Amino acid sequence: MTEHASRWLAPDERAEVALVLNGENAVLEAEPRRTLADAVRATGLTGTHLGCEHGVCGACTVLLDDEPVRSCLVLAVQAAGRRVDTVERLAAGGTLHPVQEAFLRHRALQCGFCTPGFVVLAEWLARREPDASEERVGEVVSSSLCRCTGYAPILAAVRDALGRR
Ligand code: FES
Ligand code: FES
Repeated sequence: MTEHASRWLAPDERAEVALVLNGENAVLEAEPRRTLADAVRATGLTGTHLGCEHGVCGACTVLLDDEPVRSCLVLAVQAAGRRVDTVERLAAGGTLHPVQEAFLRHRALQCGFCTPGFVVLAEWLARREPDASEERVGEVVSSSLCRCTGYAPILAAVRDALGRR
């Protein structure tokens, strides 16, 4: 909790939001109205994409305390004291994460705008439900939008990522 958290903030007043961002302690400065997506992107972590900005497309998906959320619908101040993991957490030292490799192998992207959200979601599913059924994989993938691929390669990549974990 920050010292600002116990009182109302003016709309343009900035709160200091202390959190764990991609495994590191961090402090975001954000007005009360600022979304987590905008606050994270302002730090230079622009892998979190903004498409619809109203909770439909899933491009902005990040993990909040290990659960996927649409960061365009979460206020930055709501992340105080919590863990936020973005797509940048996955690739270590320039080496792609196995889920990212699966997307590459199956050519599960074209323009790539939706890809960070799908990759974060796929990694969460692989960790949480490594034995997820075909139906469950379809259910999770259908929660986000891709306008390019027709979904078949994304489904194949997610199945592959689950199998390789
Ligand atoms: Fe958040 Fe579309 S930008 S769901
Ligand atoms: Fe273009 Fe999915 S690859 S929106």
